[in-house]
Amino acid sequence: MRILGIETSCDETAAAIVENGVHEVSSAVATSRELHEKTGGVVPEVAARKQVESIVPVIAETLERAEMSSEDIDAVAVTVGPGLIGSLLVGVEAAKALALAWNKPLIPVNHLVGHIYANFIDNPEPVELPAVAMVVSGGHTDLVLMRDHGDMEYLGGTLDDAAGEAFDKTARLLGLADYLGGPLLSKVAEGCEVNPVSGKLPRPKIDDKDFDFSFSGLKSAVKRVVENENLPVEVVAREFEDAVVDVLVKKTIDAAKAHKVGTILLGGGVSANKHLRKRLSEEAQKEGFKLHVPPLRLCTDNAVYIAGAAYFNYVEKPLGEVQADPGLGITDLV
Ligand code: KG4
Ligand code: ZN
Repeated sequence: MRILGIETSCDETAAAIVENGVHEVSSAVATSRELHEKTGGVVPEVAARKQVESIVPVIAETLERAEMSSEDIDAVAVTVGPGLIGSLLVGVEAAKALALAWNKPLIPVNHLVGHIYANFIDNPEPVELPAVAMVVSGGHTDLVLMRDHGDMEYLGGTLDDAAGEAFDKTARLLGLADYLGGPLLSKVAEGCEVNPVSGKLPRPKIDDKDFDFSFSGLKSAVKRVVENENLPVEVVAREFEDAVVDVLVKKTIDAAKAHKVGTILLGGGVSANKHLRKRLSEEAQKEGFKLHVPPLRLCTDNAVYIAGAAYFNYVEKPLGEVQADPGLGITDLV
């Protein structure tokens, strides 16, 4: 079964064709990121207008790269939330129009559940369920128990800033970048191999028994360190990254132990973080869990995992019932 996936939840316009949920046939992504770099953040109206410009060319490009037409597609899948409402609407309306014109089923997909399915794409190793999935993105930090496809339980998530948001805000505070500075902060941290101030910043909620997170205090602690101490930027970046990764790794391993699963899945933009991948992989191995992490190009937003998630969670909805929903998070789904 071939599914055309469409993703327009924020500032990326993406389309992809995926076979049987696991094989990527083609993918295209356009981004309006450079416009948001100028304003130091996404202006939703600007992002939505770029979605309108890009959606038809991106879908056409995806079909062209696959050398396919509507006859080769069995269903259309689209991200319905969470995300910016103006951006989401463009994808949802495009998907509805295609499903109607091509007479194909339409499958709504939750963006965060989608991130988890990046682990199933062209993975040479079988992904065994049940699993604990950690979704770390710009807007979310969620721990989810995935008993089976379509059977998920929300275990916990951030009470304030998401992990990616904390990376981006701290990068701004350190004067590294005004917009999406997370990857750059991580690169700067690589300049400090051995952390000389380990423990200076708090590891919020690390020993709490729940699976919630809180990163906003960490950002304020970085501010105090920057104002009061004359530490090199790479040292502060190293300690910040260590603090976030310590918490993410500990809580993920704790959740996997508590729910007696054998598999851990990572997903979301922050799963591109090298330090997180390395530390989680070391801990998972030590504790006897099988860890899957998506290839780097599938960590940040794209439509490949949207089509993948649609295949494994196939719930066809009548056209009129498919609506964009900005607030729809993992908690609303399970
Ligand atoms: O999943 P994503 O592409 O968009 C959302 O759904 O939010 O995630 C984007 C987030 C941004 O906050 C970005 O700074 C962060 O992921 N990110 C990283 C890295 N690569 C992307 N954060 C830390 N280290 C990275 N290497
Ligand atoms: Zn995302």
